[in-house]
Amino acid sequence: MVYRMIFNQTAYFGRGAIQKIADEALSRGFTKAFIVTDPVLVENGTVNRVTDVLDAAGIPYTIYDDVQPNPPVENIQHGVEEFKASGADFLIGLGGGSPQDTCKGIGIIVANPEFADVLSLEGVADTKHPSVPIFGVPTTAGTASETTINYVVTDTANKRKFVAVDPHDIPVVAFVDPDLTDSMPRSLKVATGLDALTHAIESVITPGAWSLSDALSMQTIRMIAQNLAKSVEGDKDAGEQMAYASYITGMSYSNVGLGLVHGMAHPLGGQLGVAHGVANGILLAPVMEFNKDYSGEKYRDIADAFGVADAYTGDLEHVRDEAVAAVAQLTRNLGNPTKISEVGATESDLPALAHDAFHDVCTPGNPRQATEEEIFELYKSLM
Ligand SMILES: NC(=O)c1ccc[n+]([C@@H]2O[C@H](COP(=O)([O-])OP(=O)(O)OC[C@H]3O[C@@H](n4cnc5c(N)ncnc54)[C@H](O)[C@@H]3O)[C@@H](O)[C@H]2O)c1
Ligand SMILES: [Fe+2]
Repeated sequence: MVYRMIFNQTAYFGRGAIQKIADEALSRGFTKAFIVTDPVLVENGTVNRVTDVLDAAGIPYTIYDDVQPNPPVENIQHGVEEFKASGADFLIGLGGGSPQDTCKGIGIIVANPEFADVLSLEGVADTKHPSVPIFGVPTTAGTASETTINYVVTDTANKRKFVAVDPHDIPVVAFVDPDLTDSMPRSLKVATGLDALTHAIESVITPGAWSLSDALSMQTIRMIAQNLAKSVEGDKDAGEQMAYASYITGMSYSNVGLGLVHGMAHPLGGQLGVAHGVANGILLAPVMEFNKDYSGEKYRDIADAFGVADAYTGDLEHVRDEAVAAVAQLTRNLGNPTKISEVGATESDLPALAHDAFHDVCTPGNPRQATEEEIFELYKSLM
């Protein structure tokens, strides 16, 4: 077995990390930035924090701030045109997963124009050239797009989200600065934190997991068990740990893959517009339950991370139940919805949701191979 691991060239962590953007740009010979972001981050002053750094170093920039949550194909295509008009030679993806993913799509298409339709990038696309260099600057603590080789796009016409997996899109430098995640409202901290927890748990039980990915993802599960609830209540130190936790499991899941929670969350986003982390939070404990007989001894580690006393000594089936219960309890405590009916799903949506989930690129990473009927029943159990 040969394992491939792809990481950023360089990454900075800590309050004030964005100050390093200018040094990195200048040392790489870049002359103009194209900042991909969204209107909320312009409004709340986050974009100014980054442009202040560029201004101080005399680095010019253009701002593209049109990105919508669950970004559509058109956001990328429009961005490609703006990038070409700007004369920039590097990209800054500044935001949650939506601006950062849009930034990756722009960088890939500028370097590989034969994929200008965007849709042909679905799955593992055969691009030949690395993206225009990207600096990844997260403002949420969940997707870890700043260190992954993935981006997620919404095919609006067909009401579906698809994942593009492409080593050519990885940001060359990441700047994980908790000063930028402090401003997240409570609900966004909950949703993105549950996304990070889902990345960690799915990447621990996927068949591709191995010692290095386990080291990263298990550490993340411990960090999230200890810090997510505190962060949501406004504890800034806990928020800082959540920013790092998101990144650390990103290094893992980006390389070993995810599973059925993501496979089933994507159609909820594509068809019903449900926020990605909220969808994951609804699905995580039920899918853990579905997978428990296919998880070997891994749920012992997960239970231990959540403080279950007999995690390594108790009967395996009992400990598996305790791991699922701990995740379900955290989700309830955080106030995330627990039913898909709470986020707008109706019985008539279920066949199309199950169809898309069965064909999602993340689904084969699940340790238990689910049929379309089983996926349908899982969704139905959450009505
Ligand atoms: N690339 C990957 O590897 C990967 C992995 C998981 C999910 N995703 C995708 O990422 C997207 C979700 O990203 P997300 O959950 O980070 O949210 P997001 O980027 O969609 O942002 C959600 C909302 O929060 C606002 N926001 C972001 N940061 C803020 C801050 N610091 N303060 C106040 N408001 C802030 C945004 O302006 C936006 O309105 C989905 O499309 C999902 O499928 C990508
Ligand atoms: Fe995710």
